[in-house]
Amino acid sequence: MLTLIVGGFFGDEGKGKISAYVSLAKSYDYAVRTGAINAGHTVVFRSRKFKLRVVSAGFVNEKTKLIIPPGALIRLDVFFNEVKELGVENRVMVDYNTGIIEAIHVERERSDSVLASIGSTFQGVGAAMSDRVLRRLRLARDFKELEKYLCDAPFILNKALDRGEKVLVEGTQGTFLSLYHGTYPYVTSRDTTAPALLSEAGIGPKRVSEVIVVFKAYVTRVGEGPLDGELNYEEAVKRGWIEKGTVTGRPRRVAPFNFELARKSIMLNSATQIALTKLDALFPEVKGVRSWDKLPSEAKKWIEEIESVLKIPVTLIGTGEEVEEIVDRTRELGMEL
Ligand code: GTP
Ligand code: IMP
Ligand code: MG
Repeated sequence: MLTLIVGGFFGDEGKGKISAYVSLAKSYDYAVRTGAINAGHTVVFRSRKFKLRVVSAGFVNEKTKLIIPPGALIRLDVFFNEVKELGVENRVMVDYNTGIIEAIHVERERSDSVLASIGSTFQGVGAAMSDRVLRRLRLARDFKELEKYLCDAPFILNKALDRGEKVLVEGTQGTFLSLYHGTYPYVTSRDTTAPALLSEAGIGPKRVSEVIVVFKAYVTRVGEGPLDGELNYEEAVKRGWIEKGTVTGRPRRVAPFNFELARKSIMLNSATQIALTKLDALFPEVKGVRSWDKLPSEAKKWIEEIESVLKIPVTLIGTGEEVEEIVDRTRELGMEL
């Protein structure tokens, strides 16, 4: 079984938490983290907070093997620190062709006026990506210190699927930060949609079982670019919607849930299920609730409206920061995960 987890808005929808839950509760054999170190996934697991920039949030399941695919871009120091902090040395693998970001890429971005104008995270990702396009980026296979982690990720993942094992591919950022489908030029340096997750991992489209699009109960955006219905800072604080970026610490801009964007996102990703995070930010009384029956009727009504407008089921509902603070409706809705 192959499941893709993709961001439906502008990133930071909570893919990390959803990926952690799915890997743990549905016993995934492999978890693949696409994208690069500009994206941070926050995972709160059994009272510990992890900020992940390289390794999939699926690490919370100790049996899950962790793959960094050829389309990802990592930095060696970030990789080694994270692997050590998580204690996953024996189950993390890096593809031979994974791109490596070096100090020179970060330096090059710092003096770039276009990147400054779009509110880049300045992590060197775009500079490294452009070197890759020009065929001058060094890859994981060029670094002796990575030797013991190197693997052929597409081969491993396709073989696992042949054996009937479960593979999860975790996206980074969101659909409207996509280089092709986003609000260009206010976008990141890669395609962030479901088809791109497959291409980064080296798996073909016919193998996909489920595509979970993650929406937060409201929309957030860091950096510049259009944000319809944006609330001013005071209103965002009043509603309790203010968040800080995982990598840069910048406050996130906020707007109410956007059905038009959600509809487009479902189309671009061929999404089959919705994971809706932070329901507790809209309805504080749902904090920690784990069953549909215990949700207040107002909250249930809102979710049913989402399903009736968007025409796919809301299978996972986040009710708190902790990985296990979730309402899991997959079984009652007859959906596989
Ligand atoms: P990117 O790849 O950078 O787009 O990140 P992401 O989608 O993994 O999201 P990120 O972790 O950066 O931001 C989501 C924030 O919401 C984190 O602080 C999570 O801990 C938090 N979060 C996720 N789900 C829930 C939820 O259901 N309730 C609450 N209260 N917080 C949540
Ligand atoms: P860059 O890709 O780091 O150059 O950033 C380009 C744009 O994408 C900026 O608006 C960033 O704020 C945004 N961005 C990059 N990574 C993330 C992320 O992980 N979450 C949310 N926004 C991001
Ligand atoms: Mg993030």
